[in-house]
Amino acid sequence: MSNTLSFTRNPQLNHQGELQHLLSIEGLPREIIERILDTAAPFTLVAEREVKKVPLLRGKSVFNLFFENSTRTRTTFEIAAKRLSADVINLNINTSSAAKGETLLDTVDNLAAMQADMFVVRHAASGAPYLIAQHLAASGRKHIHVVNAGDGRHAHPTQGLLDMYTIRHYKKDFSQLTVAIVGDILHSRVARSQIHGLTTLGVPEVRVIAPRTLLPTGVERMGVRVFTDMQEGLRGADVVMMLRLQNERMQGALLPSSQEYFKSYGLTPEKLALAKPDAIVMHPGPMNRGVEIDSSVADGSQAVILPQVSFGIAVRMAVMAMLGGGSQ
Ligand code: CP
Repeated sequence: MSNTLSFTRNPQLNHQGELQHLLSIEGLPREIIERILDTAAPFTLVAEREVKKVPLLRGKSVFNLFFENSTRTRTTFEIAAKRLSADVINLNINTSSAAKGETLLDTVDNLAAMQADMFVVRHAASGAPYLIAQHLAASGRKHIHVVNAGDGRHAHPTQGLLDMYTIRHYKKDFSQLTVAIVGDILHSRVARSQIHGLTTLGVPEVRVIAPRTLLPTGVERMGVRVFTDMQEGLRGADVVMMLRLQNERMQGALLPSSQEYFKSYGLTPEKLALAKPDAIVMHPGPMNRGVEIDSSVADGSQAVILPQVSFGIAVRMAVMAMLGGGSQ
């Protein structure tokens, strides 16, 4: 009972206010976000292989549980854990007993019995990592950490954090920025994590740009300005964050066609010229070229899309080190 009560207070923080799990950027204190970004900075040397490994997670076991497809997140979590000297176990969901009907929590219990120290979880169901963390707390296994690697349309906190790291790297200071997030806000866990990160770090103007059908009801309450006209929304932006159309989460026809979408909301050099001349272009990937972004922009001089991926290693190292390595 007491475990459940303390879990509901702030499931990500322990009684000392330190990071216990990483489930969402929403509700994370600014100091913790800044500490993650600061901790990530020296790890870029490891990410770039100037330093091969650090021993912070030596003897620990990190289990990657990806119930949804992934290229960047799964791989960079694996690299990050290995560079922290952890043992990494990648559960192949397609060949696991989940395919025979084993429940998520039974899978977790069995892997926990193999002395797991950390679960990195991606799941199509919003809240799945919370459920796991709550289950572990309620059954006296609070020492096992849970990291949300993307749950449904709810949150993708390490993506949001690596995006904050990327912005800080190129723009240095959040306090003067105009940031435009463009595309399928409705279905995007990345957009939610970006908005929580940007507003917590004090960005004065966060804009979302999308057709009405791809905007969540009441999105203004998250502290953003809403634009349905991309030209207007891009004007004067310092950072342009593009999003993929999440076709796998769409129910019914929300758009006339991808060609029509590209005409109104695709990022072309002409539209990008409305942002500040030194604006950076970001995309969490995977990109759909010719749908939300023109190839000449994706491969152009303002794009920082591949550096985002590299920073993802350092940021995920920072999160795992803070959780499991006693580096708080
Ligand atoms: N950005 C992101 O989550 O990419 P993956 O789906 O490839 O992990």
